[in-house]
Amino acid sequence: MIKYIGFVCVLVVLAGAERRFPDGFKFGAATAAYQVEGAWNVSDKTPSIWDTYVHEKPHVIADGSNGDVACNSYYKWREDIELAAELGLHYYRLSISWPRLLPNGFTNIISEDGMRFYNDLIDGLLEKGIEPVVTLYHWDLPQNLQDLGGWTNPLIVGWFKDYARIVYTLFGDRVKTWITINEAIAVCEVAYTMGAFAPGISSPGIGSYLCGKNILMAHAAAWRVYDEEFKPKYHGKVSLTNLVFWMEPYSEEFIEEAELAMQYAAGFYSHAIYTKEGGWPPTFEKYIAEKSKREGYPRSRLPAFTEEEKKFVKGTHDFYAVNYYSSRLARSLQPGETAGLWPFFGAGEIDVFLDVHPDWPQADNSWFFVNPPGLRKLLVWLKKNYGDLEYMIMENGYSTSDRDLNDSKRIQYYQDHLEQVLLAIQDGVNVTRYTAWTLLDNFEWTDGYTSKFGLIDVDFNDPSRKRTLRKSAWFYANIIETHSLDDINTINSFNGEY
Ligand SMILES: *[C@@H]1O[C@H](CO)[C@@H](O)[C@H](O)[C@H]1NC(C)=O
Ligand SMILES: *[C@@H]1O[C@H](CO)[C@@H](O)[C@H](O)[C@H]1NC(C)=O
Ligand SMILES: *[C@@H]1O[C@H](CO)[C@@H](O)[C@H](O)[C@H]1NC(C)=O
Repeated sequence: MIKYIGFVCVLVVLAGAERRFPDGFKFGAATAAYQVEGAWNVSDKTPSIWDTYVHEKPHVIADGSNGDVACNSYYKWREDIELAAELGLHYYRLSISWPRLLPNGFTNIISEDGMRFYNDLIDGLLEKGIEPVVTLYHWDLPQNLQDLGGWTNPLIVGWFKDYARIVYTLFGDRVKTWITINEAIAVCEVAYTMGAFAPGISSPGIGSYLCGKNILMAHAAAWRVYDEEFKPKYHGKVSLTNLVFWMEPYSEEFIEEAELAMQYAAGFYSHAIYTKEGGWPPTFEKYIAEKSKREGYPRSRLPAFTEEEKKFVKGTHDFYAVNYYSSRLARSLQPGETAGLWPFFGAGEIDVFLDVHPDWPQADNSWFFVNPPGLRKLLVWLKKNYGDLEYMIMENGYSTSDRDLNDSKRIQYYQDHLEQVLLAIQDGVNVTRYTAWTLLDNFEWTDGYTSKFGLIDVDFNDPSRKRTLRKSAWFYANIIETHSLDDINTINSFNGEY
């Protein structure tokens, strides 16, 4: 035993130098309005598409639950801030509920109550020295805008731009890091290709692409408003954050298939913004154009960008933000096969089959297989495709179905992924932030409360929604405090298994 401890000590000392994060590297944790706030019908707030979805179709949620109360953070935000401070977070990523701030969806009415809530939250964080990082859209569209077509109506570009201007006007003096859209792939693919997320409309390869183009245009409009009207005085940064699954070729034979899958998984919401030529990824655009023709459509199902629109979207970023959880193996689709595993039903569209490696352990979600090296490979791929930018990890974390406070698998997940972040930095990728998803167990969309990603346990059976720190919270706090992965306790306490 003593020999073993000695061995670990030597290892830690030897590895020490490389296990420190660069000076100025920041650690945070994230939540989203609908997943934590509750208070769905207080004051003048109107329903979002998620309020409507969970109330009209409770059967689509794993436990039939909803976000009516969730973590009750609308009332318990002070406690959330205390917990964020206890962890030593440098920043807290939150989102604004559009229908809480603008009950009409439009900007003619601004809710006094919505303004007060977000002002209190932002000021409360700043008082503790925690930077508020704010997402404008984390999936809770005002229902009345959905009634007008939501993200499939091109007019939403203007509606979103107006909303963004109000948010910057109200909070821009204190918020310096902005995310316009969280995971457009979930907003457009999971909602419209799979019909699984609100508004639950199945329109694969049509609705999903209308949504995709409009959301890129809306992001660009919101970035430009900030750049022109607010950046000169507030000097903040604005980008969107993309959920990207790393697509690993099944074997040498399938490099092209994996690359096409990456151009769909990452390129769809990046190429137009982050490349010199702009527009859709060329390989993907060509694929869909030819396929649409074979299917008898008069033009590609993928709506084209005009030259003017390409120019409008191109360059609308101040950093690249990515949410990473899992990876897939990609190969060509055999006749009669369906595309395989979530999240990427669109894989069928490009005739790619997605699978997982038998060595990748599964978390407690159907889609979640653990492959830490995928994060490093993804970051290197992003830099190769989009350039030497500032890269931020805006979500990464692990799900369990139990409420175990000794959450060793979650700790192992964080440790292994942070190791890969350090390796990516050594590879020359300028990663400046790491965000744990999530601070608190919360309403995990169609998983309801069955899937828990929290550093902190929440008792959803307790009307007071009691919060309890898990071991992973202490582990993360320790990394933040030491700014490194050096702490021997974190190494000693695991059996190395998920
Ligand atoms: C708000 O919703 C709750 C259910 O979550 C319901 O019990 C309550 O009556 C509603 N309040 C108002 C003012 O509609
Ligand atoms: C990384 O990006 C930040 C923000 O743009 C910049 O200040 C820093 O110098 C960059 N670091 C490296 C190593 O390029
Ligand atoms: C926590 O879990 C780990 C791994 O399963 C185990 O080795 C350790 O003894 C547990 N600690 C406590 C306090 O239960």
